Amino acid sequence: MTTDTPTIRPAELTDLDGIAHIYSSLWCNYLRNRGDEEDALLASRFNVCMQLERSPITLVAEHEGEIVAACFVGFFDDGVPQSNPLWQDCYRDLLAQATKRAETADEDLEGSLFGDSREKETADRFAASGTDYAQAQINLIIILPAWQGHGLGRLLIERARAAMREAGRTKFFLMTDNQSDYAFYDHLGMTRIAEDHSQDTGDGFTVYMYGGEA
Ligand SMILES: CC(C)(COP(=O)(O)OP(=O)(O)OC[C@H]1O[C@@H](n2cnc3c(N)ncnc32)[C@H](O)[C@@H]1OP(=O)(O)O)[C@@H](O)C(=O)NCCC(=O)NCCS
Repeated sequence: MTTDTPTIRPAELTDLDGIAHIYSSLWCNYLRNRGDEEDALLASRFNVCMQLERSPITLVAEHEGEIVAACFVGFFDDGVPQSNPLWQDCYRDLLAQATKRAETADEDLEGSLFGDSREKETADRFAASGTDYAQAQINLIIILPAWQGHGLGRLLIERARAAMREAGRTKFFLMTDNQSDYAFYDHLGMTRIAEDHSQDTGDGFTVYMYGGEA
């Protein structure tokens, strides 16, 4: 990283739209390309807030007032995810909005709204199985495209691991899929510990679980 390195700090409520902007630029292109700007915004805000609500550690990277990256870490106690009280009201409100919108949504929009939540159900089942990896979970790591490849992802993972160690966690897991940059985790020395094909609707979509040492 250069001297121009962004500041890393905990996420505040006012950061939601900045983080949602990164999420949207990575994963809501389909909605935006068909003109569904409002739905892309709702899906991004809801999914980011859902991840924040289950992450006691919320790191954002800020550069000149802009949020350029985010990394959230959740903790499990006896297989149950901890929640982050700061984000509970926001999550409840966005869950209500997303649920209402889903009533009249097509399959693609419904998937954009609730696909991540279904992935969390898979994570919770995995954690409840008693695996030693389920002490912590990297819930989200996203870097604004213009900032990718500059070392921020590695730095945020290092900070996340340090935060896990401080919280007494020795192992963690994370979930990704074959449509995301999963090779990043191989490169950082994590191990693929499981695969889930339950969301494969014929497109080969596969969820990967990775494990690592904190
Ligand atoms: C994947 C992601 C988090 C990586 O962050 P980044 O800031 O671009 O990565 P860094 O610059 O810190 O790279 C650190 C190292 O990982 C390597 N790396 C980065 N992306 C990689 C990828 N997709 N595959 C393999 N290696 C990768 C880099 O070459 C670098 O190697 P080095 O330090 O040994 O030279 C980021 O590109 C991103 O947000 N992608 C889109 C969202 C996503 O897919 N998130 C993760 C899966 S859910």
